Amino acid sequence: MSILVTGGCGYIGSHTVVELLNLGKEVVIVDDLSNASAKVVDRIEEITGKRPSFYQQDVVDKDGLRSIFKKEQIEASIHFAAFKAVGESVQKPGAYYENNIMSILSLVEVMAEFDVKKIVFSSSATVYGSLNPSPYKEDMPVGVPTSPYGQTKVMCEQILRDIYISDNNWSISLLRYFNPIGAHESGLIGEDPSGIPNNLMPFIAQVAVGKREFLNIFGDDYETQDGTCVRDYIHVVDLAKGHVKALDKLNQAPDVYTYNLGSGQGTSVLELVHTFVAVTGVDIPYKMAPRRAGDLASFYANADKALADLNWKTEKSIEDMCRDTWNWQSKNPNGYENQ
Ligand code: WQD
Repeated sequence: MSILVTGGCGYIGSHTVVELLNLGKEVVIVDDLSNASAKVVDRIEEITGKRPSFYQQDVVDKDGLRSIFKKEQIEASIHFAAFKAVGESVQKPGAYYENNIMSILSLVEVMAEFDVKKIVFSSSATVYGSLNPSPYKEDMPVGVPTSPYGQTKVMCEQILRDIYISDNNWSISLLRYFNPIGAHESGLIGEDPSGIPNNLMPFIAQVAVGKREFLNIFGDDYETQDGTCVRDYIHVVDLAKGHVKALDKLNQAPDVYTYNLGSGQGTSVLELVHTFVAVTGVDIPYKMAPRRAGDLASFYANADKALADLNWKTEKSIEDMCRDTWNWQSKNPNGYENQ
């Protein structure tokens, strides 16, 4: 029996596939490669010594999914495949709603046809919106996200809750990520954003490797200890291990489970920059710039529920995240291309 991983060539998906293969599970990757490289499959094999099945396939295409479910013995799915750039979602809301909503609807429809009713869904802390106080707890009301991207995560969570209400045989895990950064210790897989990175750590990494001249820090006048925004950064390998634990939990009983996957600690932009410099010895020139629209001053997780229910908590430090990011970026200055 195999685990279907949609978006399995992506940043978090590929790290999760590595953890699954290392545990002896069979994996089927479905990825349309719109925001990932097929080289990731080779790198996963290099790390684990095992090659997952791979189908270049749009998850929205139900007939394409059906042909995969006919060929493979799927027991559960982990659904990563989605558009995820906050700023882009403001520019292209229609594309985000179409892709992110239609992909979950297609996936669960085909899963039900083959009586596969276990799914782990890649959600986001952005669903808490701007009104909930930190640390965020899973029983807080879903907020009003600041972007169409965030709204698609709210809607996908609701779709899955409604599916469970319609059929209590489903086992569903909604995983709300905080800020994933870092890379596998091998440096063979890592974050490889296309174009100018939106997120902080990949931008720092590209400054470090000489692709970008300096970092713009968006705002130093927030109500935080050093004036820069505070976030809950989590090592991508810790995040991947959280998915494995959530998957195992689905075998216990049908239900809808919701978990924060975060460290429970806040780190400011300046703290992350300084830690990166201290750990790598690489200077990161930066300039203070105006605030970025939509940014919150500070948010981080209450991670107690994942510890209590899944026996999962983060193990890697901010220093590990910086060291592993640099190991990946310095070995792959242009990401997966030009290899
Ligand atoms: C972190 C801090 C920026 C870039 C987003 C999504 C969230 C999730 C993770 C998908 C902020 C500052 C950033 C830069 C900077 N994505 N920054 N200069 O915004 O907390 O979360 O990514 O699930 O849904 O909202 O992460 O890394 O973009 O920003 O100063 O060049 O770094 O202002 O304070 P964010 P981020």
